[in-house]
Amino acid sequence: MLLGTQKINSKNHLEIGGCDVVDLAAQFGTPLYVMDEAFIREKCRAYKTSFEKEYGNAAIAYASKAFVVTAMCALVGKEGLWLDVASAGELYTAKCGGFPMERILFHGNFKSPEELEMAVDYGVKYVVVDSFLELEVLSAIAEDEGKTQEILLRCNPGVDPHTHRLIRTGQENSKFGFNIKNGKAMEAVKAALRRAEGLNLAGVHCHIGSQIFELDPFVEAVPVMAAFIKQIREKTGAVMGVLDIGGGLGARYLEDHNPPTIEDFAKVVSDAVKSAVAETGIEKPMLIIEPGRSIAGEAGTTIYTIGAPKEVSIPEAPGVKTYLPVDGGLSDNPRPALYDALYSAILANRAGDKPTKVYTVSGKHCEADMLIESVVLPEAKIGDLLAVQTTGAYNHSMASNYNRFTRPEVVFAADGKADIVVRRETIEDLVKCDELPEHLK
Ligand code: LLP
Repeated sequence: MLLGTQKINSKNHLEIGGCDVVDLAAQFGTPLYVMDEAFIREKCRAYKTSFEKEYGNAAIAYASKAFVVTAMCALVGKEGLWLDVASAGELYTAKCGGFPMERILFHGNFKSPEELEMAVDYGVKYVVVDSFLELEVLSAIAEDEGKTQEILLRCNPGVDPHTHRLIRTGQENSKFGFNIKNGKAMEAVKAALRRAEGLNLAGVHCHIGSQIFELDPFVEAVPVMAAFIKQIREKTGAVMGVLDIGGGLGARYLEDHNPPTIEDFAKVVSDAVKSAVAETGIEKPMLIIEPGRSIAGEAGTTIYTIGAPKEVSIPEAPGVKTYLPVDGGLSDNPRPALYDALYSAILANRAGDKPTKVYTVSGKHCEADMLIESVVLPEAKIGDLLAVQTTGAYNHSMASNYNRFTRPEVVFAADGKADIVVRRETIEDLVKCDELPEHLK
């Protein structure tokens, strides 16, 4: 499977953004995250154009948690997208990338007072409120500063998106949002309206989950939200001008994965909102979508150096298992361990060779960290390069320093040129926050 601008060049090497991956590995070292800049732009534009065409008044807020570095914030900002941030760190990164605050949404189920203060000070467009406590704290902060903060209320529509249990968020018992069915959401609306000094309730939000391959759960959530908007108008007179339905569209990790296209997603969601508007008679709201994985995921590829393959066989089980060790693992991609996530890979330095042998790609941590349980590759040798695909979302952003590994470099590849957007950590970086108490010196 080749994604985005990936192709096999005349040297039989994988190329991304016109850059030969073998050269990139030699220049930057491995493991290396390569982001296909043109592919990110293509996804941003597909979202913008199709929602403009199908719906009109829509904003696409890239969910920065998927992959959040200064350059990515700058890139999506220049593409005219909005941004969803979910912590002080993400907000600060956005600021460093020059992202316009009037296009930022601030999320989180337990924002600290410091984070709320930062959101108000920076002037983010919407704080997406997720608790009664937050309503109190935020309105007090805004009032103190003589400001009125626009907010959305995170609601729980009670929809199950049929995805991995750890990335479902819209079902009744989720930790997120005010439940619509049990009346908590309406209580929150009233509480927000009572705080009109500091807060302006602009609309409602829901996010049902992630890596979703079916459009039905989105179609199911929309009428629930529209009915709630109608109920708000009937019970309080307040008109909700914004409907944010979150992110969640899946990405292609395997050859046989077929996530809906952005165009299909836009059409189905827009149709659902338009018909819910017609049925309920509510004012047509501005629509916000918060895609993360479907923008960054397929644009990322991680390049590893392969170590010595190891064949293992036990008398009790037939066949031989061949481990293919790579110079990264759990610390740069925790998703297989966390979600049993599946990945595909190719040999970057012999990209066009026929895959003939089944391998288990193992990481180099002191863990049974399998990156890919089973993948067919050409016969691999020490020093070959493995390109694991679709690692652009929730890889770098969830990377750790486990075993005191340094986090890999990230480059943006485009038009035959690769720019470093995150430099490789050094072992000195690893101890820069450590302190040695006097009595241990
Ligand atoms: N909006 C909100 C409020 C969210 O919580 C999320 C993701 C998104 C948008 C973006 O969802 P996406 O379009 O990327 O599916 N670490 C997990 C995924 C967690 C998603 C958390 N929230 C993984 O690696 O699969």
